[in-house]
Formats: sequence, C-alpha cells, structure tokens
Amino acid sequence: MPRINSPAELEEFRKDIISKRDPGKPCIAVCTGTGCLALGAGRVVAALKEEIKKQGLDARVVDMRETGCPGFCEQGPIVVINPEEICYLRVQPEDAREIISRTIVEKKGD
Ligand code: FES
Repeated sequence: MPRINSPAELEEFRKDIISKRDPGKPCIAVCTGTGCLALGAGRVVAALKEEIKKQGLDARVVDMRETGCPGFCEQGPIVVINPEEICYLRVQPEDAREIISRTIVEKKGD
C-alpha cells in the first residue's frame, strides 16, 4: 500500500480502488462491530463463507467484507448485500444457506 501524504492523494487512491471494482458483482458486507460480534457476527461470517463454498461460488462471483458499525446494533448481526442494498437483520448462522441461495444465486431480494 502506498504512503498517502495528503487528502488529494487519499482521494486518488480511493478512486483507483473503486475503478477496479465490478459494480454489478455482489458484495456481502457483515458488520463485525462490537455489538454484532457480541450477538454472533463471527459465526455468521464463518457460516456465510462456508455456504459460499458449498454452493460452488468463489471470489470471482461474490465478494465478502467485514465492516464497521452502521449504527443498528440492537438489530444485529447486520448483513448487507450490495449493489442491491438488501439488508438482513438479526442474522443467525443457520440463515446463511438461504441468504446465499436466494440473494446471490437466484438474485431474489425478498
Ligand atoms: S455493531 Fe453492528 S450495527 Fe453496530
């Protein structure tokens, strides 16, 4: 990672990262802030990763990120699927199979 010496360089670095992303590629963002971790977000992350493998997917078709707190801690663990902006609340590890199959594979957001 390059050393960033100014806000302008930071902005350039941000634009470069964004330009390399496929805007249509699904990204699963799991909050791993303190509140969600206390509610089991670590197990949710593990279950989602396992389910991605089980369903024959990989980093070429879906990204997964652990994020900071968006501020809905009492509803955690929080999982957001982009670019569709689908938000799942109070996710449990046993929800992973359905989240991956319906939202990522079948592209259904209901
Ligand atoms: S810690 Fe996850 S929403 Fe706040």
